[in-house]
Order: sequence, then structure tokens, then C-alpha cells
Amino acid sequence: MLPGRFVGSRAACLAGVTTLCYETIPDVQLCETIPDVTVRQEKSPFIQACRREPVPYTPVWYMRQAGRSLPEYRKVREGVSMLDSCTRPDLITEITLQPLRRYDVDAAILFSDIVVPLRAVGIDVDIKAGIGPVVGTPIRASADLARLRPLEPGDVPYVTEAIRMLVTELDDRPLIGFAGGPFTLASYLVEGGPSKNHDRTKALMYGNPELWHALLGRLADITISFLQIQVAAGASAIQLFDSWVGAVGPDDYRHAILPHTSRIFSALRSTGVPCIHFGVGTGELLGLMGEAGADVVGVDWRIPLDEAVRRVEPGKALQGNLDPAVLLAPWDVVEERARDVLVRGRTAEGHVFNLGHGVLPETDPGILARLADLVHAESIQPET
Ligand code: CP3
Repeated sequence: MLPGRFVGSRAACLAGVTTLCYETIPDVQLCETIPDVTVRQEKSPFIQACRREPVPYTPVWYMRQAGRSLPEYRKVREGVSMLDSCTRPDLITEITLQPLRRYDVDAAILFSDIVVPLRAVGIDVDIKAGIGPVVGTPIRASADLARLRPLEPGDVPYVTEAIRMLVTELDDRPLIGFAGGPFTLASYLVEGGPSKNHDRTKALMYGNPELWHALLGRLADITISFLQIQVAAGASAIQLFDSWVGAVGPDDYRHAILPHTSRIFSALRSTGVPCIHFGVGTGELLGLMGEAGADVVGVDWRIPLDEAVRRVEPGKALQGNLDPAVLLAPWDVVEERARDVLVRGRTAEGHVFNLGHGVLPETDPGILARLADLVHAESIQPET
């Protein structure tokens, strides 16, 4: 091994994946290490729950906790487009940290978007305010596939730089990296924008399996690189958001999507970081989503967590699943519903408290702060 230092994921270092965590630098002794800021993250309740280890209390974070409902987010975003803000390490760092100043959450999630790696390889995608991702020239024929070239670390230097800054700032709180799942990314590319029923995407899946698998193969390659880059920079867990995959039934999921998702999780396995797999409306897919190889299966609010436990194979932790709309109701309703989620979550081998989908823009941040405290207080375990 050339002289250098260990950076990034402790888990990757322990797993010996030096390409992910060893940086060669001149003028240092062999194997000199920097103070490893990620070692304490291994002992954080969030990572412990993902690994199904005993926890002092149930950890909590919120999908889409950054942005949207925070006035300080809207302030720093003034005059900066969504995707431009995702390429500025200073803004990425600031926005990622904003929710942690308000809520006692157990993890941060990187401020970015699922279309960032697509734009980084040259896809003409933009995020239009109030609409979502819009793709100028959709991908619908095999000739279009060449536009989905592999992602290199040099394509997203701002992600690496932001994560390195964040890991130092966050100290013992883990940072979750993320990427879009294959069906969800394919849907934006094929439809050309947000879609209710994903009809064109499913037409391609049913009508041209060869092109479909070639497309998902390329998306999986991009996703694997994007996630590996985040772990190499210091992310201590990752979440795959296949948000819209609930649009397909179990048989189609098994044949058309699962092989690609499995390849993503297999490629991440050697990094040693816990992987979370999430989708909306996936009650009938939960077992297969577990089989795809994640450590944690994310559950939306349509199915009680104890039922999700029965549907997911043993050896998995669960994440979820308070309906985000409950947070718009009076506090006594929030309290009652949150307690119910915690009680049902106790039947899982590991439970990370979360909403069943992202924070709604109109949510009062004060309620999110109170909810994090409630989850901790209600779940505290007596020291043994
Ligand atoms: O937790 C966080 O807040 C971290 C940041 C984050 C964003 N997007 C920032 C964002 C995360 C984790 C995402 C993931 C994402 N992006 C998903 C998966 C999660 C989910 O909600 O199911 C999806 C499907 C997208 C695609 C996307 N990006 C949509 C549909 C939209 C528009 C609707 C919306 O949520 O506002 C976006 C835009 C987007 N991504 C915004 C933010 C903060 C709003 C844009 C703005 O502030 O101008």
C-alpha cells in the first residue's frame, strides 16, 4: 500500500475496501490515519438499529427533513435554482445541517436530489419549482441509451467535497447518502417528467424487455458509482429511494426490477455501510424489496409496521411509518399515532422511526421537533 491516510467510511476500512477509504498522499508515513470521525457513528443508535443491535432508544430521522418546510432553507435558496444548489458544497452542507439545528434527529441526510447523477452524466434534466424533475429529451429508444454514460467521481466533485465537510461537522451523527432506485429514475427519463401512473414507463417494461433491461442496467451502474462515491467520502449509511416502484405488481417487480436493485445492493455490500430500501405504495412488494438485499426496508403508512414485519424476511430492520399528513393534525393525534408506530415497531428486529414518506411542505417545524423528542422519550431503554 502506498503512503496515505484513511478517510471516509470506517466500515469500508474495516472491510478492507481501500479503494473506498484510502487516499494516497505524499510525505506521510505508511498507514498514518487521520482521527477517525466515523468510528463513533458505528455506535450511534441509528446505525445500531439498522444493524438490528440493541439501542438505548429508537432512532428517528425524517425523509425530506431538509428544505421544503424550513424558512431558513427558503432563505438560503433565494435566487439559486434547485440543481445549482446541489452543486455548491457550501449550500449542500448548510442545508443538510439546518434540520439538525432544530430537531434532535439521529441522522442527517445529504441535501441533493435523485436526478443529480443523471445531470452529471449529461442528461438535460432540470427541477422545475412546484413540478419536479423535467427531462428535455426523454429516453425511449435504444439509440438514446448512449446518453447514459457511466458516472465518474470527477463528475460530482461537489458531492465529495460537501460530504467531507459534513462528516467533520456532524461528529458522531451519521450522514445518510442516497440515490434514486431504478424504476423511479427510469420513470422520469422515459416519461420526461413527473407522472401519475407511469404508463409510458410500464409500456416500455412490458413491450420491450431488452431495451428495459439495458436501460435499468445503465441506471444501476450510475447508481452504484453515485452511492460508492458518497460512501467513499464518508456517508455512513445509504438509502435507495425507489419511490414510485409501487406502480408495478410483484411478478413484474421480480423479473423487471429486482435483478437490477439486487446488483446495486450487492455492489454496496463490501463497503459495510447499512443500506435502506424505500418505496411508496409497496405493501405487496415488501418481501421482494427485502430480498433485493438491503439491511433495512422502508415502509409507507398504508400498512401497519407489525404487518410489514410479517411480510419481510427475518434478518431485516424496518423504517417508518407515520403518515406525514398526521403531522397536520392537532398534537394529541400526532402523539397517539406516533406511539402506535413505536408499539408496532417493537415487533421488528430493528426499528428506525420515520414518516411513511417525505415531510409535507406545510408541516410546522415545531411539530417535527416535538415528535423527535417524543420518539426518544417513549422508547428509552433502561440501562442493563
Ligand atoms: O431529505 C431531504 O430533504 C434531502 C434532500 C432530497 C431532495 N430530494 C431535495 C429536493 C431528497 C432525499 C430527495 C429525493 C427525491 N427527489 C425523491 C425521492 C424521495 C421522495 O420524495 O419520494 C424524488 C422522487 C425526487 C424527485 C423530485 N425532486 C421531485 C418529485 C421534486 C418536486 C417535488 C418536491 O418534493 O418539492 C423534487 C424537487 C426537490 N428535491 C426539492 C427538494 C428540497 C424542492 C425543490 C425546491 O426547493 O425548489
